[in-house]
Amino acid sequence: AYSAKIGPSILSSDLSCLGSECVRMMACGADYLHLDVMDGSVFSVAPKATTLCVADMHMMVSRPEQWVKPMAAAGANQYTFHLEATTNPGNLIKEIKESGMKVGLAIKPDTTVEELAPWANQIHMALVMTVEPGFGGQKFMEDMMPKVRWLRSMFPSLDIEVDGGVGPDTIHKCAEAGANMIVSGSAVIGSDDPRSVITLLRTAVAD
Ligand code: DX5
Ligand code: ZN
Repeated sequence: AYSAKIGPSILSSDLSCLGSECVRMMACGADYLHLDVMDGSVFSVAPKATTLCVADMHMMVSRPEQWVKPMAAAGANQYTFHLEATTNPGNLIKEIKESGMKVGLAIKPDTTVEELAPWANQIHMALVMTVEPGFGGQKFMEDMMPKVRWLRSMFPSLDIEVDGGVGPDTIHKCAEAGANMIVSGSAVIGSDDPRSVITLLRTAVAD
């Protein structure tokens, strides 16, 4: 079986205070932090912050092979890359494991879950994107839920993460479909009471 884990995405936070935002989210009960990395972005990793938390690196980059060793060296716990960004997922999965990190495999809204399935037994987590990757605050795509439901039925013990537009209004759909790793950016970071939002999200998955 799987357990509920809540990972705030700090993409929506003040990036000049990345380290303290990570600490604040952990203090509010986050199970891990979801750190978004994009080509050309200045925020590679806050190495100090990653020693204080479990860091899931969401690599929205064109050459994910390039950052495996630097992220491992910076203390990342999990390396989540996009299936669309590589021609050799098998080799990348192997390199990530050899670097001592867990493997996450992400698919964008237009990618079918059947394309991910052949790798499911070699990875630790599947990420079903519920928005087009890019930025926080977008609308949740409910039509991605059949992907989650199908993965959950095929791979009962796989960690399944949802990312994009997830918050108190949409969590129940994710939980019902079988997602257990919940990324939430603007709904948590923008809240006056992040602790309550995190607790609400966790309870929805656990119920
Ligand atoms: C989107 C990123 C997400 C984003 C989520 O491209 O991968 O992690 O920060 O933010 P919200 O929860 O606001 O959609
Ligand atoms: Zn993300």
